[in-house]
Amino acid sequence: MRILITGRNGFIGQPLAARLKKDHTVISLIRRTQSSIDYTGEELLIADLRDITLPGIQKHRVDLIVHLAVLMRGARGTVEQSNVESARRIFDVARRLDVPVLFLSSLNVLFYEQLGAYARSKKTAEDILKEYCSRYAIVRPAFVMGPGSPSLQMVARVQKRFGFVPLLGQGLGKTQPVSVSTLVDRIVALVDKNQFEGQTLQVVGQEIMTYRGILEQMFKPNPVRFIHLPYGLSLFVVQLLEKLRIPLPLSSEEIRSVNMDKLVPLRN
Ligand SMILES: NC(=O)c1ccc[n+]([C@@H]2O[C@H](COP(=O)([O-])OP(=O)(O)OC[C@H]3O[C@@H](n4cnc5c(N)ncnc54)[C@H](OP(=O)(O)O)[C@@H]3O)[C@@H](O)[C@H]2O)c1
Repeated sequence: MRILITGRNGFIGQPLAARLKKDHTVISLIRRTQSSIDYTGEELLIADLRDITLPGIQKHRVDLIVHLAVLMRGARGTVEQSNVESARRIFDVARRLDVPVLFLSSLNVLFYEQLGAYARSKKTAEDILKEYCSRYAIVRPAFVMGPGSPSLQMVARVQKRFGFVPLLGQGLGKTQPVSVSTLVDRIVALVDKNQFEGQTLQVVGQEIMTYRGILEQMFKPNPVRFIHLPYGLSLFVVQLLEKLRIPLPLSSEEIRSVNMDKLVPLRN
């Protein structure tokens, strides 16, 4: 199959593209190449999703679109605008080419009213997909763990540099983290079965963990020194900086997220 993948340079896109390449032709839609990534055997389509055109994609004779690209954080308004516009563009291309879509959404969609722009953008994108396309699968993972996780790498850098980890709030929100390898297996299984019947899969791990617990496990056997910052104050400051369009390494939504339970039954 000829598979167009967006978000290929990201944390999940990298192992997924490597797996898909073994049995399929991968067409990677990326904004720029990265020297650390091996693109051997792939067709590269260098573009921002918000600028794509039908002829630009049509010439790659795509059989399936796997949409992963996302903006997780940014100034107020940009996350929702960028993700919804990108989704609208790529799903419209799928509709016109009449090819199925595998959309990597997020479990956060279930809690979008309490969360924020990222979760809302995923909910809107799911709705657009359902309106535009008849053949699709939506995959909603919980927190994804594994080598290269940008959020865990950021925490590791802070711990290394300062000797402590700042926790905004208590970090006691419960989640069912899933390993990136399990998630990639589930996506590849869907692709290989060519199963695009409008289904929504929630992909979660077996274990319930708090975010604080995830960090403690990551640093094992060394103990972690947490510095707690009050939840309300952290949220207020980060929201203010987002309004002022000051770039930040985390979003107000992530602060809410690590402090609330987001659990689903194990079988779906
Ligand atoms: N990581 C998790 O824990 C988690 C949990 C649930 C769901 N998900 C979902 O899984 C998917 C992949 O997540 P990830 O962790 O791999 O994300 P990531 O590491 O942040 O990668 C996102 C990729 O999307 C690309 N991108 C963003 N906006 C774009 C645009 N306008 N045009 C073209 N490319 C664009 C980025 O390109 P650049 O490299 O050019 O910036 C980046 O390579 C996302 O849809 C995310 O919502 C992730």
